[in-house]
Amino acid sequence: MSKLSLDRILQSQGFGTRKYCRALIEDGDVAINGEIQDSYKSTVDTDNLVLEVFGDEWKYRQHVYIALNKPGNFECSRKPSHHPGVLTLLPEQFTWRDVQPVGRLDHDTTGMLLMSDDGPFIHAQSSPKRHVPKIYQAATAEPVTPELIEQLLAGVQLHDEPAPLAALSCVQRGDKLLEIVLEQGKYHQVKRMLAAAGNHCSALHRSAIGGLTLESLGLAEGEWCFLEQAQLDLLVP
Ligand code: URA
Repeated sequence: MSKLSLDRILQSQGFGTRKYCRALIEDGDVAINGEIQDSYKSTVDTDNLVLEVFGDEWKYRQHVYIALNKPGNFECSRKPSHHPGVLTLLPEQFTWRDVQPVGRLDHDTTGMLLMSDDGPFIHAQSSPKRHVPKIYQAATAEPVTPELIEQLLAGVQLHDEPAPLAALSCVQRGDKLLEIVLEQGKYHQVKRMLAAAGNHCSALHRSAIGGLTLESLGLAEGEWCFLEQAQLDLLVP
């Protein structure tokens, strides 16, 4: 059992500053099990807690783990400069609780992006030591050839890398379409590997991370969902 004061609970869930959360409670906008809670000092057990704020139910979560089907023309950086940030695709509450992308996708790359407010989780998932396969569909400017696939599987040398980087798997899916599986997450890795192998990536989509696929989540472009433990378990190497 973990007990916290109601104002702290609301703040931890991203409802706003402590002052604002206290005002919400004092104004009678917060209920639990249909009972209005008007004292911000009262302590509440967070286990299986469901809050009602302005009449809407909100399940308490110590941390959130989110999958987003990222559309093109959104930036993953904290201070986006040329396109809107991916956080604008989520309810504002997640910005308040400092949800961040786990790794990055380029602004023009679409597909699965994980997001969380759990620092150790973000760190562990982004660690270069963590070899979780990521599946990409890469459209190419020039037709796919057997030599291109051979090169990507054998490893290509990128300018700032000490050793060649190889795809874990590489399968032709169309005249100008490849499915590439990588276990590293280097900057612009798919695009730079294709360029180093003499082709050019014209569009890129990430369809899966580990055993978690966008298809299994049923997310349309721009949609997001919470990930529960069984889905997080699919993200292990
Ligand atoms: N590789 C790239 O080149 N871009 C991405 O967004 C992801 C992987």
